[in-house]
Amino acid sequence: MDRRAFLTAAAAGLVTSPAWAAPASATPSRASRTLRSDPFTLGVASGDPSADGFVLWTRLAADPLGGDGRGGMPSRDVEVDWQVAADERFSTIVRSGTATARARDAHSVHVELSGLEPGREYFYRFRSEGRLSPAGRTRTTPAGATTPLTFAVAACAHYEHGYYTAYRRLAEQEPDLVVFLGDYMYEYGPSGYNALAGRVRTHTPGKCRTLADYRLRHAQYKSDPDLQRAHAGAPWLVAFDDHEVENNWAGEISSTGATGFAARRAHAFRAYYENMPLRRASLRGTSLRVNRRVSWGTLARFHLLDTRQFRDDQACLDGVRAGCDERLSGGRTLLGGDQWRWLEDGLHGSTARWNLLGQQIMVAQRDFKTGPGREVNLDSWDGYAAERTRLLGALSRTSNPVVLTGDAHMHHLAELKPDFDDPDSPVVAKELITSSIASDGDGYRDREWIDAALRENPHFSYIDQRRGYLMARLTKDELSVDFRTLDRVSRRGAPARTSHRLTLTADSLNAR
Ligand SMILES: [Fe+2]
Repeated sequence: MDRRAFLTAAAAGLVTSPAWAAPASATPSRASRTLRSDPFTLGVASGDPSADGFVLWTRLAADPLGGDGRGGMPSRDVEVDWQVAADERFSTIVRSGTATARARDAHSVHVELSGLEPGREYFYRFRSEGRLSPAGRTRTTPAGATTPLTFAVAACAHYEHGYYTAYRRLAEQEPDLVVFLGDYMYEYGPSGYNALAGRVRTHTPGKCRTLADYRLRHAQYKSDPDLQRAHAGAPWLVAFDDHEVENNWAGEISSTGATGFAARRAHAFRAYYENMPLRRASLRGTSLRVNRRVSWGTLARFHLLDTRQFRDDQACLDGVRAGCDERLSGGRTLLGGDQWRWLEDGLHGSTARWNLLGQQIMVAQRDFKTGPGREVNLDSWDGYAAERTRLLGALSRTSNPVVLTGDAHMHHLAELKPDFDDPDSPVVAKELITSSIASDGDGYRDREWIDAALRENPHFSYIDQRRGYLMARLTKDELSVDFRTLDRVSRRGAPARTSHRLTLTADSLNAR
């Protein structure tokens, strides 16, 4: 079976091992605890690869949309066996063990592997109470700087707005790694946020507020076969933005000013952790730490940021507006002091050839007003302009920095400059902003609007309003990025094509 056939079979749960093909040889007490239906309805995932391991994830849910968020699972803990194999047929098992899917963790498991070989593919699967999971493919990171890296960048997957064809197309390209930059799920109730073209499917009832609400919504998203396929094909690096909790929240402040936000945020964080291939140490009481670094040998280092949890409230009551001096204030922070120092130390201490900043919101200045005057999005880095200046200073002293961004629901390619209004200001980094997987529904291409936006913002060179993702290939000498677009997501099956390509030579911007 070739790899593509394997992944298709694996996604359908058709790949079984000689060792696990027969019914589990369970003890009588375990045999009596057989789940009535398949608990692997939410798929499998892996994440955060290192040179000798990764995280494996699954969450048991016999009835994923059962109304209480518990996925139709019993209130007891359930044992889950796992296997890691060197080959896709699972004939050479290199690690195996048993994890406990605890009821209090919504029957999720996060298995952290170490001690494996660097720079190679592994295959994994789970088994519980006689049921076998689909198999997944993952990998460890290589040593050195010579192994190239192919990685996808994606964001913003509103379930009601479209099908996840973009996830499917991304998986078909078999990247080594998927970087997901936020808005993995949306908290709104049915039709709480409508795309122009309406909705193609319907959210679970109500706006997410309770732990049960968030768990149920994640289960709905995770039930999608295209999403499952994208997770099963490669390890992911995930970081949340606003909608995993609430539209435009900031720190401990709800955008609606509602009280009780701290508890709601804690519920959202817990459900996010339960449904993502994150390391166990990321959940810390009521907070969730997602800013972290992942290295691909000495070729690349990903610095993943959290631009929500530690930020000051948006200036001037948020929104896209003109004339807000507060946004320029030197005292305002987007990353928070601790994360800022962590980032600055990590950039300056990095020995990687390329440094990739994975973060949520647009760094480049973006004037939304055509003609004289300026209107900016106060939720993005434009609302935290002094810290952006510090960030650009740090990037100017970093080896081959590239910023990866989500949130905008349109592809953009921008040059980052200390002074965006000065044509002679040096370019310190490129910013690659991915469009959405599904959010805002079927895309379009309004040439007049795009031309006006490019004229107004000359440091941008490409904008595309269609859905899609980025597919990047990185070597020691070059970064090449395909901006992938799909004409529609309102029906399944659209092809993805490369609408724009960037090729960036190492050391062509700021050589350290
Ligand atoms: Fe979004």
